[in-house]
Amino acid sequence: MFDGLLRFASVLALAAMAAISVESHAQNLERGRQLYENHCQTCHTAQVHGRKNRTAIGIGDLREIVDRWQANQALRWSREEIEDVVQFLANTRYFFVTRAH
Ligand code: HEC
Repeated sequence: MFDGLLRFASVLALAAMAAISVESHAQNLERGRQLYENHCQTCHTAQVHGRKNRTAIGIGDLREIVDRWQANQALRWSREEIEDVVQFLANTRYFFVTRAH
């Protein structure tokens, strides 16, 4: 009886943790989307990220390029904001198949 309860409780805890992480993840992607649409999309269409000879070939390159662009635009994004935009682009434009480096 006690054993069953314990198992039930741990399943609940796991489910709650999963729900929280999905939610905060979605929130960050949403912030990334907003930042990108407000500050970056004005210049290039989304096509720039899908061109054949694109310069961002891995998440590390992408992070560098995003950082360069936000500095170039004097946006003063925080680490978290840069990361949100990187994750947004990685999830919606790049779909890197190689592991992050
Ligand atoms: C002044 C216009 C302009 C603005 C503003 C701009 N970009 Fe760009 N971006 C470009 C052009 C032009 C290219 C393609 C030439 C190049 O790679 O330098 C490019 C290329 C890129 C690439 C590489 C695409 C690839 O895979 O080859 C990324 C990533 C990128 N921009 C991200 C951003 C982000 C993030 C912002 C906002 C902080 C931003 N850009 C704002 C003009 C702009």
